[in-house]
Amino acid sequence: MTVPNTHARCVILGTGSALPERRVSNEELSQTVDTSDSWITERTGIKFRHIASPDETTSSLAIASARNALDAAGLQGSDIDLIVLATATPDHTFPATATKVQAALGMTRGAAFDVAAVCSGFLYALSVADSMMRTGMASKALVIGAETFSRILDWEDRGTCVLFGDGAGAVVLGLETPAADDPSPRGILATQLHSDGRHHDLLYVDGGPSTTGTVGKVRMKGREVFRHAVVNLAEVLDQTLALQGLTSADIDWLVPHQANARILDATARKLGLSRSKVVVTVDTHANTSAASVPLALDTAVRDGRIQRGQLLVLEAMGGGLTWGAAIVRY
Ligand code: COA
Repeated sequence: MTVPNTHARCVILGTGSALPERRVSNEELSQTVDTSDSWITERTGIKFRHIASPDETTSSLAIASARNALDAAGLQGSDIDLIVLATATPDHTFPATATKVQAALGMTRGAAFDVAAVCSGFLYALSVADSMMRTGMASKALVIGAETFSRILDWEDRGTCVLFGDGAGAVVLGLETPAADDPSPRGILATQLHSDGRHHDLLYVDGGPSTTGTVGKVRMKGREVFRHAVVNLAEVLDQTLALQGLTSADIDWLVPHQANARILDATARKLGLSRSKVVVTVDTHANTSAASVPLALDTAVRDGRIQRGQLLVLEAMGGGLTWGAAIVRY
């Protein structure tokens, strides 16, 4: 517990990610599913996805990504007093997968819990951690997005099973009070979250403990999801930028949820942003749900595209429907 400091900002101290070992190409998929490389590439931009083996779980991927992020931040698990983990594919119905990560990292204080907002989960987790830290409830946090979506795919439904992959991404957050004369201090500048439950049946899992008693499989009305995604993302991005008195010209990197290359292109076009400023990993990771934004972020940090001091805009949209955005000076 720290004393609330209304001037403090949450800063990203380190990023990390983890992918299952097995990488599956469109060609390999087309041997078991009635699809083709050309259909998947044209409609989605996806070429590969990583698929977890039976001994790779959401928690094992989350732990690997968290260790990676802690190393980048020069910290240990015992330095952390908050874990917020976004997932739609927890190891168990309960307890929260975050508590498994907590135990593995040797963190015995603070709080660890999961949030469920499917593909928007990382934005939700980031926003929750940011709010908790700035109100003094924690001083160093791990925010993780981790999924084994392959476990809830219907491998006979070619309209969904080709779109998703498994993985995890993490960021370590710390609190920093900017110097009074710093014109562009780093940290999370704003987050915006939205949901509209009227559309819960556009993208959902047809099972669960209190309904069927089974885990269920992903069901999606792809065209309608696509339509909502483009409109909602453009709106939330405009809104979040405007709140900070910023425009798309101020953005160094858009780090979007990696659902589909056509959605990324449409969003960039609506923002008037060049595609060269969009971090794209959908080709090699496919849609990893809550893991996709932190996986894309870590990829671009590690390959040197994202530099300290740059202005990043993160966004995502997913089942619920849920959507959100964050502006971060890295
Ligand atoms: N391989 C080959 N053909 C496929 C296929 C596949 N993997 N999946 C669907 N098809 C076929 C359909 O059966 C249909 O055939 P028909 O015309 O003979 O009936 C045809 O392709 C068109 O299907 P449709 O679903 O209308 O395609 P689409 O142009 O809408 O593209 C998506 C489908 C899923 C790629 C697209 O709707 C989409 O990207 N939606 C957003 C999904 C998303 O991002 N969800 C996650 C949000 S977090």
